Amino acid sequence: MNINATQDVTVNDLPYFAVQVSHSTVGAEVARLFEQDRSLPGIIVMEQGRFRGMVSRNQFFQRLGRLFGIEVYSTRPITAFLDSLPTTALQLATTTTIQNAAILCLARPVEYVYDPFVVIAPDHAPRLVDFLALILKQTELLTAAQIEAHSQRAAAISASNAKSEFLANMSHELRTPLTAIIGYGEILIEDVKAGQTAESVRRLEAIVKSGLHLLEMINAVLDLAKIEAGKMDLFLTTFSLPELVAEITSMAQPLIQKNGNSFEVTADPTIREMHSDESKLRQALINLIGNAAKFTSQGRIGLAIHQEEDTGGNWVVFQVSDTGIGMSESQMTRLFESFYQADSSISRRYGGTGLGLSLTKQFCEMLGGYLSVESVLNQGTTFTMKVPVRSVES
Ligand SMILES: Nc1ncnc2c1ncn2[C@@H]1O[C@H](COP(=O)(O)OP(=O)(O)O)[C@@H](O)[C@H]1O
Ligand SMILES: [Mg+2]
Repeated sequence: MNINATQDVTVNDLPYFAVQVSHSTVGAEVARLFEQDRSLPGIIVMEQGRFRGMVSRNQFFQRLGRLFGIEVYSTRPITAFLDSLPTTALQLATTTTIQNAAILCLARPVEYVYDPFVVIAPDHAPRLVDFLALILKQTELLTAAQIEAHSQRAAAISASNAKSEFLANMSHELRTPLTAIIGYGEILIEDVKAGQTAESVRRLEAIVKSGLHLLEMINAVLDLAKIEAGKMDLFLTTFSLPELVAEITSMAQPLIQKNGNSFEVTADPTIREMHSDESKLRQALINLIGNAAKFTSQGRIGLAIHQEEDTGGNWVVFQVSDTGIGMSESQMTRLFESFYQADSSISRRYGGTGLGLSLTKQFCEMLGGYLSVESVLNQGTTFTMKVPVRSVES
């Protein structure tokens, strides 16, 4: 619900009573109507098809209950009650908002504050609305608006926190490899001057490694910006899935070995060809395997591939599983948002930018597929990526 929606709710949306009597109906008859329906808050009085006024239950019985009230009023027409009222009935157009109606009702003289009011429209008979119905509706709207405002505020704060945290981590992440590049470069100049070639090679390797890391991060940020701007295109080709899997397996080896993990790939041999964006698929899988390898130590990483067929078409399902640190339910809820990492200790301990999964999910969806996760804290995680065997240009 939008907060502004409270402004759109009018008296027309309230439950109403349409009981009416003619101006010549006598007091005793009206008393019978009020007794018949105990919830009736008042009665509309019409004269020759036109709205003449309203008599509220409270005012009616107050007058009738006075000494000689019954004798005096029960035989007289109901208009006697109307005419003796110091105020005429509060009449509102159907477009009056609940908030304005409440203000107008409460502005009535104190003895009439709880009286019903009348909603008048050209296309229907006058309607009588109970004051209590109005107040209940107003309370309901205010409560809903309050809850909505509260959750919008919480969402805004959390998005802004994620962004600030990202900027803080990102500047650290960018500075570290840059410092390494510049530092090694400076030492290298000294090495070359002193003719130390063996040392120079080691430092050059470190420079290239830092440069590659930097490039990877900058690419992720630029890719996300491109997707957000709606400028990321699909590049669909037909390629061999076994070849892609072999390529990914060899690319993943150094990542897997780093923390002493083992890697097992099981692929359904019947799937040969795919028509998809090979490079986005490769990047998505490397991201998932990279995470599995990063958050698991001395454990097992698996890549399982099978085919599925349902009413949605033919799918290739990739499952990347690990026996690593896992995640709690609450950590998983915001997993696919950009810049999000399960908690702030993650970036300190494992590095990263919180962009990989967000990018992976977006690539997957661009291909017409889905990304989902299952995880148990301290036991392991499985990411399931389901993509069409044949993607189509959207
Ligand atoms: N296999 C996994 N096991 C445990 N936690 C994971 C796994 N993959 C992702 N996560 C959690 O999700 C967060 C976001 O992942 P990602 O978007 O790839 O960012 P990054 O790897 O840069 O931290 C990680 O920081 C981590 O908290
Ligand atoms: Mg990652």
